[in-house]
Amino acid sequence: MSEHDSSTNLWHQLLESRISRRSALKGSVAAAGASLLPLSLETASAAPTDAPSAQARGNAANTRPPFSPIRPSTADDLVLPRGYRYDVVRIYGDEIAAGQPFGYNADFTAYLPIDWLEGGQSSTDGLLWVNHEYPNPLLQHGNLAGPKTPEQIAIERTSVGGSVFRVQRQRNGRWAFVGDSHNRRVTGFTTCRLTGPVAGAAGVRGAVEVSGSVGNCSGGITPWGTILSCEENVDDYGAPLVQGGFGYGWDQSYVKEHQGWVTEVDIYNPSSTPLKRTAMGRFRHENVAIRLSANNRVVAYMGDDRNDSCVYKFVSDGSYDPKNREANMKLLETGKLYAADFQNGTWLLLDYASQNALKNAKAANGTPLFRDQSDVLLNASGAASVLRATPVDRPEDLEVHPLTGHVYVALTNNSAHGNFHGQIVRMIEENNNPEATSFQWDFFATGGPQSGFSSPDNLIFDPYGNLWMVTDISSSRTGRGIYAFQGNNAMFFFATEGANAGKAVQFASGPNQCELTGPSWTPDGRTMFLSVQHPGEESSGMDKLTSHWPNLGGDPMPRPGVVAISGFPGWRRR
Ligand code: FEO
Ligand code: CA
Ligand code: CA
Repeated sequence: MSEHDSSTNLWHQLLESRISRRSALKGSVAAAGASLLPLSLETASAAPTDAPSAQARGNAANTRPPFSPIRPSTADDLVLPRGYRYDVVRIYGDEIAAGQPFGYNADFTAYLPIDWLEGGQSSTDGLLWVNHEYPNPLLQHGNLAGPKTPEQIAIERTSVGGSVFRVQRQRNGRWAFVGDSHNRRVTGFTTCRLTGPVAGAAGVRGAVEVSGSVGNCSGGITPWGTILSCEENVDDYGAPLVQGGFGYGWDQSYVKEHQGWVTEVDIYNPSSTPLKRTAMGRFRHENVAIRLSANNRVVAYMGDDRNDSCVYKFVSDGSYDPKNREANMKLLETGKLYAADFQNGTWLLLDYASQNALKNAKAANGTPLFRDQSDVLLNASGAASVLRATPVDRPEDLEVHPLTGHVYVALTNNSAHGNFHGQIVRMIEENNNPEATSFQWDFFATGGPQSGFSSPDNLIFDPYGNLWMVTDISSSRTGRGIYAFQGNNAMFFFATEGANAGKAVQFASGPNQCELTGPSWTPDGRTMFLSVQHPGEESSGMDKLTSHWPNLGGDPMPRPGVVAISGFPGWRRR
């Protein structure tokens, strides 16, 4: 515990020293970005939704928000700027395939054009993946006191995981769900396969096939058109039921070591098995942001969303081949996993064979902490701690700037030691090489009343390099006390270059006690998909509902869901 505390203080010492150096560094960062612009345009992620980057080349200086900002709001609605509107595409309980309802607490979304495997870029017809992060016993079956019946556990367990379904923009401009053979659910019961070094290892009880994907928070898209769903708070489900807390008291069939991975799903192949990528480590995965190196290795940036936890990157052994999707499907099976040391600006290799500190590490009772690489991957945060990677303040999303290659990291908050509003930090790899083992870093933005936002969570860039961010002030605190200035959880726009770089401009405000999560674009930039997660989460009973969204008033219980936001001018016309 004492080592934990001293490391925590280390992060805050680093924060303070960077605040005083910020203006000096800022100049050098801008210069590095400018000089690397042509190269990084070519090397930025080749994910399908990044294709508009090419269209933006002649327009890269467009840093003005394409909307008139809204004010903070406590309205029980998704409030948008004038000229924008949202269509509710699916909410909890809506059927997406025969007998398969849309799950609870929608999170990460990814739009992939229906014609993408044939080289198309449709922005009006696609497959939408949506994560379902965690259940809500009160609003799903009403049993808060426990013990839960098998049926109640099944309701919760089938409501997490993810949904994939077809969406189309209609002639009237509205987005609609479409029945289709691609539509399916991944749930807490779906058979998934462990791949990589931990498959079949003792630490997972010898398992290769496992039951379910849970805690599906944010995620990512690969350049070969699969989605990555990140399993975050996976310890909660097997834990004893805690009323009003995060113990769900599921039965003994839940094995937490089978969860906590990055799970890859080929949404174009409805009979494919979700694949858990153990080489990317097991921790509270928030999301994955992919960049290709000059050698076409896949570099995946990831955060462990917990107080005083680390930032990681995975570098694939193999190289991406744009012409061989089948081979690309194996790229995340083997590679190197690193954790970030922010004090020295180095990436520390989590490798049992070459790191004596991992071989010599002992638990309090004297037994070895790690016996092989599978133990290191299963307990990646423990290995990062042994190697003295830097614990930081709850890393949520990481995203790669499409023009500079810099990695933006949302550190949401850490109230345990006085960081109540969080920061967005920017990492710059040595020589802008994502395979590098050293980096610099700097602040991009700091939360608080002076900047207008608190608790940054999911991030997404537009192809001009502007950052769009959603906040995650906890439900019990939104609109109150030191968080009152922001009203409900919200979405903000930031230019990353120019006079207004780092200044938050408010785009949206969510319904009561919700978190807006998982924004994603269509390739033309005219539509953003967005989840409205946990509206009315502080309701204390069915007769004391604090939100009714998507109903605006009346008595219905709130239902989390996914919306399509229209009104954006699109990339070409800005
Ligand atoms: Fe599930 Fe870190 O938010
Ligand atoms: Ca999140
Ligand atoms: Ca969050």
